[in-house]
Order: sequence, then C-alpha cells, then structure tokens
Amino acid sequence: MEKIKIGFIGCGSFANTVHYPSLYEMEDVEIAGICDLDEKRLKETGEKFKIENRYTDYKKMFEKLDLDAVYIIMPPHHLYDIVVDALKRNLNVFIEKPPGITLYQIKNLANLAVKNGCKSMVGFNRRFIPLIKKVREIVEKNGPIIQIVSTFYKNMFPNFLYYNGAVDILTCDAIHSVDIMRWFCGEVKNVRSIVKSYFSNTPNAFNAIMEFESGATGILLTNWTVGKRIHTFEIHSKCISAFVNPNEKALIFRDNKEEAEILSTQEIAQSNEFHKFYGYFFENRHFIDCLKENKEPECNFSDAVKTMELIEKIYKNNISI
Ligand SMILES: NC(=O)c1ccc[n+]([C@@H]2O[C@H](COP(=O)([O-])OP(=O)(O)OC[C@H]3O[C@@H](n4cnc5c(N)ncnc54)[C@H](O)[C@@H]3O)[C@@H](O)[C@H]2O)c1
Repeated sequence: MEKIKIGFIGCGSFANTVHYPSLYEMEDVEIAGICDLDEKRLKETGEKFKIENRYTDYKKMFEKLDLDAVYIIMPPHHLYDIVVDALKRNLNVFIEKPPGITLYQIKNLANLAVKNGCKSMVGFNRRFIPLIKKVREIVEKNGPIIQIVSTFYKNMFPNFLYYNGAVDILTCDAIHSVDIMRWFCGEVKNVRSIVKSYFSNTPNAFNAIMEFESGATGILLTNWTVGKRIHTFEIHSKCISAFVNPNEKALIFRDNKEEAEILSTQEIAQSNEFHKFYGYFFENRHFIDCLKENKEPECNFSDAVKTMELIEKIYKNNISI
C-alpha cells in the first residue's frame, strides 16, 4: 500500500496528545520526519513514535524528504511564515485552530493554498466528534435546525492572556463554539453581541445572538471568568431537542415526552481514548482521506476565513460599547 508521507513540525504537548497518536495508528500513513527547535522534545517524540528523521530546521526537512503533506502545530503567532513556505513548496498543510491570529492572515493563506493547488485544513475537531455528528444526523431527520445554543465557559482567572497576549480568547479558543454554529446552521445574516472584559482590561466574555441565512437562530454564550470548563450545545429542530456535552453524553427529547434518549460519547465513538471520542482521530482521518481521494477538506483555509469573518462580526456588532 502506498503510504501518505507526513512531515510534522512541532513536538509540543497537544500534538503529542492527539495528532501523533492518531497518525501513528493509521496504516496508510507514514510520519516520515519531524521537526522541533527543542532537541529534548524532538528526541522524546521521535522515540515514542519511532521516527528516525529528526530536524531542528524545518527547511532541511522539506529539502530532504519527499512529503505529501505537512502538519504545522505550534503557537499561532509563530505559524504564518512556515505555512507560507510550505504552501509555496506546493505542500498540503494541516494546522490547528486558530488559523492564524487575524482574518487578514488566514485570507492570505487561503488565497495562497488555492493559487498553489494545495489541500489545507484547520483542526476544528468539534465537527468530527462522533457524538456531535450522530446528534446532527438524528435531529436533522426532523427537518432543518431552527435553533442552536453553543456554550463555552472556562476559568482562566486571573490571567486571561493566551501566549502572553499574542492572540485574543475568542480567536484562540472560543472559536470552537463559533465554528460549530456555522457547521450546524450555515452562514450568518445578522449578529448582535455583548463583548465584556470582566475583572480585566481585555475581553473575556463573548455573548451573541445570530440569525442564520437558513432562518435558524443561534445563541453564543462564552465566558472565561466563571466556575469551570463547561462546553455544551443545544440543537433544536421540529419536535426534537438535543442537549449535548461532548465530553460525556447527549440527551435527546422528542414530541413532548419526559424521558430522554441518552447517547454516551464514548459508546458512539466506540472508544474511551480522548483523541478518538473528542474527534481528533477522525479529523486527521478526514485530512488523509481527502489527500488520497483528491478532495477538499471540509474545514480548509477558505472555510476558516468564514469562521474568522464571523468572529470579526461578533467584535464589530458589540452593542455594549
Ligand atoms: N483543537 C483543540 O482542542 C486544541 C487544544 C489545545 C491546543 N490547540 C492548539 O494546538 C496548538 C499548540 O500545539 P502544542 O500544544 O502541541 O504546541 P506547544 O506550544 O506545546 O509546542 C509547540 C512546539 O513547536 C516548537 N516550535 C516553535 N517554533 C518552531 C519552529 N520554527 N520550528 C520548529 N519547531 C518550532 C516549539 O519548540 C514547541 O515544542 C495551538 O495552535 C493551540 O491553539 C488545539
């Protein structure tokens, strides 16, 4: 079998938790080489996933290896130049969220990917969580989604800065909640938001009401100063309502009945492994399949532009200024 040859830049903690294990267990993938500036991390990751070709200079890896695609997984403010370099060498590229630190950046990356005929993907893993996919399938059997609530709460008190302030909370992390609303309901026609900076000089609570072109109504509720991490979704269609906590389960109510149908996230994913039941394995599988079948990944850079545009709209339509 012809294997897809991946070069991997970044041997960081998240990459080691979800992306390396996912790719490592795919029989049709070879992690042909890895790169990190940090030699200790490079060695540890290389040994753990049995990768011989190790580089501290990614350009050398590009020159030495004949790669099908490159994963570039590192802090978002260090990403841009390397992604540009990879695309200019006609390499297909997978990056994590956020897709750059500004809308301007991702627009330029999307243009370059299209110009050079490269496949691209942003790791919006929530779209690939098996429980969420299953819930969508069940709810849409009753017709289009008419209402969605997407919540993401965290407690980052008192330091609300990601990467010392290189990128804001909404772009860096709450973006998951915004992107999944687009995935469920399509593009947004109208947005009104309340963006607040609680106990801080920088925004850390992003709440919005949206009207989708489909006619659906969306509510975004996020706040990084509250009790703990709670990340849930409500998805409603005609006579059906799903309340989803993708870490645990979904409750599905139908036709005014008291009893809920309960779906467990681990059972639907057929796995207790985090990188599987939380969607990472399946997003990686999607990227590899798209490379093999010459298809565009569903969350390519051009699609990520739309999520970043929605983020910009949330900031611009803040009614509390
Ligand atoms: N989808 C999710 O649920 C989720 C969750 C957590 C983090 N993330 C994303 O993952 C990314 C961070 O991944 P991580 O935790 O593995 O990163 P990390 O910050 O732990 O590690 C990044 C690695 O990149 C290396 N590096 C930096 N510049 C380099 C260069 N020029 N050449 C080679 N190596 C270089 C660093 O030495 C470091 O080892 C971020 O984009 C973050 O937003 C996503």
